[in-house]
Amino acid sequence: MKTMIKILIALTVLSISSTNLYAATDVVAGEKKAGTCAGCHGAKGINKNAQFPILAGQKAAYIASQLRAFKKGTRINPMMQSMAKNLSSEDINNLAAYFSGLKNNTNHTNDIKMADDTASKASMCKGCHGSNAEGRGGFPRLANQHVKYLENQLKAFKSGDRKSSPMSGISKSLSDEDIKQLSVYMSSLNAEKK
Ligand code: HEC
Ligand code: HEC
Repeated sequence: MKTMIKILIALTVLSISSTNLYAATDVVAGEKKAGTCAGCHGAKGINKNAQFPILAGQKAAYIASQLRAFKKGTRINPMMQSMAKNLSSEDINNLAAYFSGLKNNTNHTNDIKMADDTASKASMCKGCHGSNAEGRGGFPRLANQHVKYLENQLKAFKSGDRKSSPMSGISKSLSDEDIKQLSVYMSSLNAEKK
């Protein structure tokens, strides 16, 4: 299982780093376009309501990939699908550049004592999501994200409501307790401290 996951990590890193996802991006145009996002995602990409994921400081390549997935309908969410269907690929790259450049210092405390087994799963997660869960390319940042949002996404991967080639498989090995603890732990890391 462990070697399989290592191979999976290596393959995913390779496939993500070999594609050049952005040509020219225009942050100012992205900021203008982001006016339509603010009602849900907050003025600077942060809404305290955990229903809405924090976009500030998220990885540009990941933001762009999710907007394309909503647009194509491979990631399902009625609100986001209707938002994304009107975005051009230029808009998508500009929005991704804008949001990824914003700060996210949202502070979550970690008052959970993780079981050893869960801690070893957490170190596997860091292989892709980064040692401070800061994200990398198409691997999203989990640090400073809403706990409840992370928890809901892990449940959605596990139930099959959200599909992703690495996460669908990985989430199957997580118990409900793992999901709860890993969500608290990952969100409590601070990607901007480093
Ligand atoms: C009507 C509310 C609403 C508006 C407006 C909206 N979003 Fe969203 N967005 C959501 C919700 C809800 C989710 C979480 C979907 C889920 O739970 O899977 C989301 C998820 C996302 C995600 C995925 C984040 C992640 O961590 O996976 C991105 C990227 C995103 N939105 C970008 C945008 C952009 C860019 C705009 C403006 C063009 C926008 N959204 C406008 C409600 C909205
Ligand atoms: C092999 C690499 C890999 C490993 C290992 C991995 N992930 Fe992921 N994870 C990804 C990728 C890629 C995505 C984006 C999926 C997509 O495009 O929809 C993701 C998405 C997520 C998301 C959704 C974030 C968001 O903003 O919507 C969460 C939560 C998550 N992973 C948690 C974890 C946890 C917890 C672990 C460890 C148990 C883990 N991941 C292990 C690659 C990985």
